Amino acid sequence: MEPIEPVEPDADRALDLLGIGLGPFNLSLAALADAVPGLTTAFYDQRPDFHWHPGLLIDGATLQVPFLADLVTLADPGSRWSFLSWLKSRERLFPFYFAERFHVHRAEFDAYCRWVARSLPSTYFGRQVDSVRWNPAHGHFEVDHTRLDPHGEAEALGRTCARHLAIGTGSAPYVPEPLRPLAETPAAPVVHSAHYLDHRERLLAADHITVIGSGQSGAEVFLDLLRARPAGRERLTWLARSPAFAPMEYSKLGLEHFTPDYTRYFQGLADPVRDRLVPAQWQLHKGIDTETITAIFDELYRRTLDGGWPDAVLTPGVTVRTAGRLGSHGVELHLEHTEQGGRTRLVTGAVVLATGYRERPLEPLLAPVRSYLRRDAAGRPLVDGRGRLELDRSVTGRIYVLSPSRYSHGVGAPDLGLAAWRSASALNDLTGLLTGTEHYPLPARTAFTSFGLDPGADRSSNGVPVGTARR
Ligand SMILES: Cc1cc2nc3c(=O)[nH]c(=O)nc-3n(C[C@H](O)[C@H](O)[C@H](O)COP(=O)(O)OP(=O)(O)OC[C@H]3O[C@@H](n4cnc5c(N)ncnc54)[C@H](O)[C@@H]3O)c2cc1C
Ligand SMILES: NC(=O)c1ccc[n+]([C@@H]2O[C@H](COP(=O)([O-])OP(=O)(O)OC[C@H]3O[C@@H](n4cnc5c(N)ncnc54)[C@H](OP(=O)(O)O)[C@@H]3O)[C@@H](O)[C@H]2O)c1
Repeated sequence: MEPIEPVEPDADRALDLLGIGLGPFNLSLAALADAVPGLTTAFYDQRPDFHWHPGLLIDGATLQVPFLADLVTLADPGSRWSFLSWLKSRERLFPFYFAERFHVHRAEFDAYCRWVARSLPSTYFGRQVDSVRWNPAHGHFEVDHTRLDPHGEAEALGRTCARHLAIGTGSAPYVPEPLRPLAETPAAPVVHSAHYLDHRERLLAADHITVIGSGQSGAEVFLDLLRARPAGRERLTWLARSPAFAPMEYSKLGLEHFTPDYTRYFQGLADPVRDRLVPAQWQLHKGIDTETITAIFDELYRRTLDGGWPDAVLTPGVTVRTAGRLGSHGVELHLEHTEQGGRTRLVTGAVVLATGYRERPLEPLLAPVRSYLRRDAAGRPLVDGRGRLELDRSVTGRIYVLSPSRYSHGVGAPDLGLAAWRSASALNDLTGLLTGTEHYPLPARTAFTSFGLDPGADRSSNGVPVGTARR
C-alpha cells in the first residue's frame, strides 16, 4: 500500500472528530475510525512523521505486551490495520509464523505503526495544536494549530473545526528537580533515557557513566552500555531509588489489572483510594521485565569467566539529593542511602536519567475551555466512565481522553493492551450519539478476577457475600 498524501480538511465544514496527538493511542482511534462509514475525522501530530520513542529503540528491545495488543486487534481482529496485515503487506507472514514470537521487536512495532500512520488518509504530521476553543453558536470546537516544517520551524497558522475531539498527547520525559540544572546544560553529557540513542557515542566516550533509575528504560540502557564496554573496564554505576532492582509483575492474574474490567472498577473508587493505589501498585507498572534482568546478570557473569570482576556498581536504595558540575567534563552527584541513612559523593563523567515520564497536562491546550471543565477535589479535570472529559452541560461536543493519567484510569492507562478497546469505546460512544448504534460490539467481561464486591449480592448463611459486582 502506497503512503497517502493527506488532503486538507475542509475549512468551512466542521469534522465529526479531530484527534490531537498521534501516538499509538490516537493512531488506534484513527485506524478503527477508518472503518466507520460517513465519519469525518482528522488527526494532528506535531512531529514530522510517526516514530515511537526513537531514542530508546535499542537493538533487540522487545514490546512488553503480546503483538495482539496492536492498534486494532483486541477490538476488531478483522481490521485491515492489524499487525498481521502489516506483516502480510511485507510478505513476512511465514518467517513470523516460524519465529513463534509473541513479544515482537519494538523496532517492528514502530515500523508497523508508521505504515498505518502513513497509509491512513486522516493523519497529518507537522501540525502542532496550540489551543482549543468552544464555539457555542456553531456547536463545535475551534482548534488552532501551527504548521511546522520538518525541522520544527513554524510555517503557517491554521484553524480546524470539529464537533468532537480526542486528546492523545501522551507523556513527556521527566527530570527530577535536583537534576534539572544538569540536564539543561547543553554541553553536558547528561541526557534523559528518551534521547539515549542520539547521545550514545558521546556517553560511551566518557570515562565513567552513571545510570539513574531502575525502570525498564534504566535497565535497557545499563545493559546496552555494559555490552559496549570492555570486560574489566566497564566503569559503570547504576543507581536505583527503589529498595531493589525489582522485576515487573507479569503473572497471569496480575495482568488482569490491565483489563477494561479493572479500569471500570478503578474508576468507581473514591479519589483518595485511587491516589493511594497507584503508587502502591508500582510493581505492575514500574520495575524491569525478568528477561532484561536475566540478560544483565548473564552479561555480568560472563565477565567473571576469566577470573576477573566487572567494574560495575549496581546499588539500589539510593536517592540523588543534589548534583553539580565539576569543570567542563565531570558531574558530581550527592547520594543518600535510604536504609543506611549514610551520604556520599559520586564523581562521574556522564549521566543517563532513566527517571521516567509524566503525562502532558491538558491544561495549556484547553485553557480557553477551562471554565467548562469539571474537576475533582484536587482540581484535576474529571474523566467519566466512557473516557470523556466531564464538561458543562451547555457544551454539546465531547472530548475523549485517549492518553489518560493513571490517577483516573489506573495502572492500565498507558498500556498498549487497552488502546484498541479505549478507541472502540470512544467510537461506540460517538456513533451511538450520531447514528444510535455502537460500531464495535465489545464483550461485557474481560477478566476472570471479579474486582470488588457487589453490595446487593446474596449472602451465605455466615454472612459472606456470594455474588460479586459485574457490569
Ligand atoms: C520506551 C518506551 C517503551 C514502551 N513500551 C511499552 C510496551 O511495550 N507496552 C506497553 O503497553 N506500553 C509501553 N510503553 C508505554 C506506552 O505504551 C507508550 O508510552 C505509548 O507511546 C503511549 O502512547 P500515547 O499515544 O498515549 O502517547 P505518545 O506515544 O506519547 O504520543 C503522543 C503524541 O502526541 C503528540 N503531541 C503532544 N502534544 C501535541 C500537540 N499540542 N499538538 C500535536 N501533537 C502533540 C506528540 O508529538 C506525540 O507524538 C512504553 C513507553 C516507553 C517510554
Ligand atoms: N522495551 C519496552 O517495552 C520498554 C522500554 C522502556 C520503557 N518501557 C515502559 O515505559 C514506561 C516508563 O518506563 P521508564 O523506565 O522510562 O520509567 P519508570 O518505570 O517510571 O522508572 C523511572 C525510574 O526513575 C526513578 N526516579 C524517578 N525520579 C527519581 C528521583 N528523583 N531520584 C531517583 N530516581 C528517580 C524511579 O524510582 P522510583 O521507583 O523510586 O520512583 C524509577 O526507578 C514503563 O511502563 C515501562 O515499562 C518499556
